[in-house]
Amino acid sequence: MTKMPMPSAAAPDTKIYERRESAVRTYSRSMPRQFGKAQGVWMHDNAGGRYLDFLSGCSSLNYGHNHPVLKAALVDYIAGDGVTHALDLHTDAKTEFLRTFEDVVLEPRGLDYRMMFTGPTGTNAVEAAIKLARKVTGREMVVAFTNGFHGMTLGALACTGNAGKRGGAGVPLNHVSHEPFDGYYGEGVDTADLLEQRLSDPSSGLDAPAAFLVETVQGEGGLNAASPGWLRKIAALARKHGALLIVDDIQAGCGRTGGFFSFEGMGFTPDIVTLAKSLSGMGLPFALTLIRPDLDIWAPGEHNGTFRGNNHAFVTATAALREFWADSAFADDVARRGGILEGRLERMADRHGLSTRGRGMMRGIDVGSGEIAARITGACFDAGLIIETSGAHDEIVKVLAPLVIDDATLNAGLDILETALAEAIAPVKRPLGVAA
Ligand SMILES: Cc1ncc(COP(=O)(O)O)c(C=O)c1O
Repeated sequence: MTKMPMPSAAAPDTKIYERRESAVRTYSRSMPRQFGKAQGVWMHDNAGGRYLDFLSGCSSLNYGHNHPVLKAALVDYIAGDGVTHALDLHTDAKTEFLRTFEDVVLEPRGLDYRMMFTGPTGTNAVEAAIKLARKVTGREMVVAFTNGFHGMTLGALACTGNAGKRGGAGVPLNHVSHEPFDGYYGEGVDTADLLEQRLSDPSSGLDAPAAFLVETVQGEGGLNAASPGWLRKIAALARKHGALLIVDDIQAGCGRTGGFFSFEGMGFTPDIVTLAKSLSGMGLPFALTLIRPDLDIWAPGEHNGTFRGNNHAFVTATAALREFWADSAFADDVARRGGILEGRLERMADRHGLSTRGRGMMRGIDVGSGEIAARITGACFDAGLIIETSGAHDEIVKVLAPLVIDDATLNAGLDILETALAEAIAPVKRPLGVAA
């Protein structure tokens, strides 16, 4: 029998958070529970509540919480006094990761990249990517795209579109041109052609770029999925104009859209790729910048960081690669399950005259406003479903279920979403005089 969510009614004591945790906190405001345990697709609060997780640590937990194989590998490693921290020294855990990534990810896909372990957050991988592109080309300007999200440190933030996030910088964010993403002006306007026109016009005011930085599906910016044709044009444009193509696969990679990389099978190869989030497989901080070997012109230590290469994450990431990526079975299953998700979201959207966004297991519904979306996610949470929003106005209800979820549990979570959506979009009209 399918396990169902079981929300708790308890209002936890949040005084310590109000007193001591910074006002910058977000998720805990809309989901005020105290969580203690998590396993697979479930999170448990300290009042006996069981929540189905359709947020997955914002795609950092693609294989679910505490996957038994990954957990066993980590527990064994720690129990055996495996090295935890070693700066960038060679370690057994790193050797295994490098070899496994080469065998399981790079070679089967015919890809040739050097691996640069940056500080452990996605934004650090992006900083490294754009720094390197500037160093290689001797150019300053980066082309990023409308609704792109690349992180919170200044270089990555400059490439991010969202005004609220940019506002936090407190200094000018420059050396980036935000060009229209695929579909920005609606159907019928090819924004890659517009970019080509601007790049080819010596009077357009657009400086020659060091790089194009692009997400294939915009995770925070509204789940806009670029078409393969548009991405191929962008890749060709980058080459033609002497810029490097950086694909930020921090949210869309590691299986979220089906393949290990979100650009697989699209007919182009990025010069640089950034990965983080689900790379460790267990939610451990770990980021990686993949670099075309001839571009790897870093001087030793030129971009460093104390926590480059988290050895515990090497262990769990290696276990995840062996468990999920040694053959195509997992990717095939994700693609199949993405079809279920697509079908259900399409039906919900059709019923209410709405539209869907996304690709693979990275999809959502545009409900038209952040206020309606918040009502929907709030009602979902009250019913035991953890789910969040995305988009310029937080108007997209975003499903990021763990990729390992079984079909019945996926459908159970989508049933909750369907009910919350119907109640928020088309409130039941009661006859006059009948109490609610
Ligand atoms: C596409 C993309 N790039 C970069 C980042 C930044 O990653 P982090 O929050 O680990 O710094 C994110 C985070 O959501 C992301 O979605």
